[in-house]
Amino acid sequence: MADVPAVTVVADFAAASDFEKKHTPFITLEAQLDRLLVNVEVGHEVPHPNGTDHYITFIELYANGAPIARLDLSPAVTHPKFCVPVSLPPDTILRAVEHCNLHGLWAYEVTI
Ligand SMILES: [Fe+2]
Repeated sequence: MADVPAVTVVADFAAASDFEKKHTPFITLEAQLDRLLVNVEVGHEVPHPNGTDHYITFIELYANGAPIARLDLSPAVTHPKFCVPVSLPPDTILRAVEHCNLHGLWAYEVTI
């Protein structure tokens, strides 16, 4: 069985260091008439460098642990982010996970 890679979960974005902020896949929510718009952004307050030697390789979004969206990225993407409209019940836990090729996996969660 392969080792499960460690994930750094940032619980308090406001109190996070600049290094943590540049890796945290920050989630914002926009309520719309019949759906919720989920925005996930890496580099929300502190931009993450994106070049051939150091970049974000993917962003994933989970709802109560089940995968619901994934975006694969190349070093050509200068500001990794995506938005996806969802229809989910209240109290669903959304977890965004991103992977930096040098600094590993980072996660952030919100409850809708
Ligand atoms: Fe990094």
